[in-house]
Amino acid sequence: MNIYKPNFLIFKDKNEADTFVSKTIIYTINKSKSKINLGLATGSTPIDVYKNLVKAYKSEKVDFIKVSTFNLDEYVGLTSNYYKKSYRYFMDNTLFDKININMNNTFFPINWNAEIKSSRTKFNEYDELIAKKGGIDLQILGIGENGHIAFNEPGTKLNSKTSKVNLTPETIEANSRFFKDANEVPRTSVTMGLNTILQAKKIILIAYGDKKLNALKALLSADSFNEEWPCTALLLHPNVTIVTDLINSICLN
Ligand code: PGA
Repeated sequence: MNIYKPNFLIFKDKNEADTFVSKTIIYTINKSKSKINLGLATGSTPIDVYKNLVKAYKSEKVDFIKVSTFNLDEYVGLTSNYYKKSYRYFMDNTLFDKININMNNTFFPINWNAEIKSSRTKFNEYDELIAKKGGIDLQILGIGENGHIAFNEPGTKLNSKTSKVNLTPETIEANSRFFKDANEVPRTSVTMGLNTILQAKKIILIAYGDKKLNALKALLSADSFNEEWPCTALLLHPNVTIVTDLINSICLN
């Protein structure tokens, strides 16, 4: 198994890093003559990147008509009262409703209010869909404090495809800031697997703020995949760029 060194870009501040990521997305869309598939993340990390994309669209610097999007994950078991906590709502509200993307081309691994009736539900149809549509050209990732990427928690296998997974207590706690309290946070989600993510042609991982430092250090110091830090799966991909604003913590320590 080949191990690759990610490109590691340390920016002076989050604003500069956001600008780099948004410009890379815009460039990727504009340079593509035909359709283009983006893999997108939710959470706090990409919010300002999405705001930059909306601004660029409004000033006619980019057109989303030929773009399809594949989100990394979605909670399972939200009732209609909790629609606004779904990642579908997050994406619609932050980006999709504000640009000219065709909503039929915005995909999630599961509908936010789907009832999972059978244990035989084939979640990996999402992987097949992504492959059928030509694969993800550019995947945007955040990272969890415990090193998860999407909801691939510590212990996830490298060959994992899209599946239903349990969230760890740390992730439930970290995500409780979006809910009234931790009890309201769904315990499960459907997430792209590590293998799904590694199929993307190019990956940008964004890590902002000191809370992400340990995960980032685990990734940068690893020399092979370590299940305890799912982010280390990225060492197996030849085209990964890590973007961070952790200049003080990384360069001065
Ligand atoms: P955050 O989450 O962007 O809200 O920090 C990232 C993640 O948990 O993957």
